[in-house]
Amino acid sequence: MNIQVKAEVMTCPGAPTFQEIMHSGVGPYSEILEQRSNPPQSRADIPFSRYTSQEFFDLEMQKVWRKVWQYVCREDEVAEAGDYLVYDIGRHSIVVTRVTDGSLKAFHNSCLHRGAKLKPSGSSGWSPQIQCPYHGWTWSLDGALREVPCAWEFPHLDYESNRLPQARVEAWNGLVFVNLDKNADPLIDYLGVLPGHFARWPWTDWYLALHIEKELHCNWKTAQDAFMEAYHTPVVHPQLTQVVGDWNMQHDVFDDHVSRDLCAFAVCSPAAKQPIGEQERLDRVLLGGRSPNAVSVTLAEGQTARDAMARQVRGALEADYGMDTSGYSDTEVIDSIKYNLFPNIFLYTGLSMRQIHRIRPIANDPGRCTFEVLIMRPAPRDRPRPDPATPVRITKNQLYTDLPEMAGMELTAITLDQDTGNLRAQHEGMLASEKGAETLSIYQESRIRAFHETLDKYLNR
Ligand code: FES
Ligand SMILES: [Fe+2]
Repeated sequence: MNIQVKAEVMTCPGAPTFQEIMHSGVGPYSEILEQRSNPPQSRADIPFSRYTSQEFFDLEMQKVWRKVWQYVCREDEVAEAGDYLVYDIGRHSIVVTRVTDGSLKAFHNSCLHRGAKLKPSGSSGWSPQIQCPYHGWTWSLDGALREVPCAWEFPHLDYESNRLPQARVEAWNGLVFVNLDKNADPLIDYLGVLPGHFARWPWTDWYLALHIEKELHCNWKTAQDAFMEAYHTPVVHPQLTQVVGDWNMQHDVFDDHVSRDLCAFAVCSPAAKQPIGEQERLDRVLLGGRSPNAVSVTLAEGQTARDAMARQVRGALEADYGMDTSGYSDTEVIDSIKYNLFPNIFLYTGLSMRQIHRIRPIANDPGRCTFEVLIMRPAPRDRPRPDPATPVRITKNQLYTDLPEMAGMELTAITLDQDTGNLRAQHEGMLASEKGAETLSIYQESRIRAFHETLDKYLNR
């Protein structure tokens, strides 16, 4: 039965709420972070067939992926005229390129002669024009057909109607999005509350420092769900229970496309079985990669790990990046502030942790996906902005903790190994299930349910 219930905010008994932790630190407190938003939801079980069936996957391809705005890359990855990047989703492939007049274009990656892909899937680079690698038909960057070898063989070819077909492309906050639906609403409408919230956290002064793409053996939503709740933290990430507020983090659902969670750092989880001292807690967060300079400090008399962490990170951001953090609360400086944009990205927008996570199905397989972590750093003020990182692609058996690129970010690397290491077993368990459905908690898993509710709206259109 699909019962809608009243909005319900459940708090973890005996634990401080995220709001209480935030307000115990240094302000100013953003009104945006003081908001709570928990619309009524159903409590019905959610069938596993939504994660495992080819038929459901095909419907998603047709009714969701062809209709939604999808994050492609950062604007600085296609900064100069001729820069291009290929974005793939299911059978679809789109070449996003910067045109000579400075605008962006998104072309379907299929030659109008005999269909060859114009650029290899997943590739990026620079070319002054778009030339098919098969027989050499050539288009200018704005999509006009310019050259056809042996043109005398094609007196019947109309150049004007053989411009490269386009998808929609728009940018916001330094991020490029495409939409395969020509009649889609503008990106700004799709983004809902996001532009208003992110006015406080612009991303344009940050650059892409690291990009890791891992193949996973599960449905794309299974991987995504793991980042929409921290209910699993004590079991999957026992090392985190001494340093984050997991069961007492805040979850908000704002509109069809945007939800978020707010997770306090340098505090003890209500689930911690072996609480540790404040100095050890401080060392773990600062040396584990949650400070730009990975240097710990000695606690002053009566000082909490959280206060010391905020002070240390503020100092490091100022020293290393010339950043003035005085207009931001401790929460904005040290905590995890993570927004989910339907259907498949997370934007972490704290000052010491700015990342994108993106999950995409591989080809037309409901049982495989890629999970990407894109780590941003503030652009240096005194030298040119570094080039954006190119993707490091790893297989499902490789570990983040083995990657030299993750040096200095051990806490993140261990956590990612634990999260991604779980998912194949979950996918196989779904296939093995007699019950055939999942039963979600009311509050901590409310964002997974909100996701499915939006998914249904698209599927029913
Ligand atoms: S398939 Fe592209 S030029 Fe022939
Ligand atoms: Fe996790």
